[in-house]
Amino acid sequence: MDIEIRKPNSDKEWLDYYDLRYRILRKPLNQPLGSEKNEGDEAGIHFALYDHKILKAIARLDLQENKIAQVRFVAVEENQQGFGFGKKIMLEIENYCKEIGREKIILHARDYAVDFYMKLDYKVVEKSYKLFDVLQHFLMEKQLAN
Ligand SMILES: CC(C)(COP(=O)(O)OP(=O)(O)OC[C@H]1O[C@@H](n2cnc3c(N)ncnc32)[C@H](O)[C@@H]1OP(=O)(O)O)[C@@H](O)C(=O)NCCC(=O)NCCS
Repeated sequence: MDIEIRKPNSDKEWLDYYDLRYRILRKPLNQPLGSEKNEGDEAGIHFALYDHKILKAIARLDLQENKIAQVRFVAVEENQQGFGFGKKIMLEIENYCKEIGREKIILHARDYAVDFYMKLDYKVVEKSYKLFDVLQHFLMEKQLAN
């Protein structure tokens, strides 16, 4: 199988995972190295998409109360965006959430990523926070079961 979606499983894979998160989600906002990690990384469920063993996309899933799961830190390698990797990793996370009995996925989308999630049937709930006082986010959700 050319595409694998799984947790990173070596020191090198973890380095690549956080490096991708930093380069795509923190560096463009002028944030220092180290800012890509947070306290939720220990408990979080990590997904990494490898295409022919090369890391292309990442995301973290946090389990919350009331059968809710939150997707965070979704990022696709810069020159690999628009090729379907983001969609693939989001669908894998959705399947995983169904398997473990989660009923709803929520996320805070960057303003320019809202349409990407809408294509995956997420609905905007409300305007949420501004990351680093500049980047507007929108709370979105997708119901998985009634
Ligand atoms: C946003 C992001 C995760 C999308 O992943 P991707 O691999 O580029 O997107 P895909 O190729 O899987 O696109 C799936 C569909 O969404 C559309 N799409 C992708 N990014 C989009 C965007 N920013 N706005 C609108 N539509 C978008 C694609 O055109 C495609 O549409 P189609 O199914 O009709 O062909 C990725 O571009 C990325 O990492 N961007 C920078 C970081 C970021 O914004 N992360 C999200 C933080 S909330």
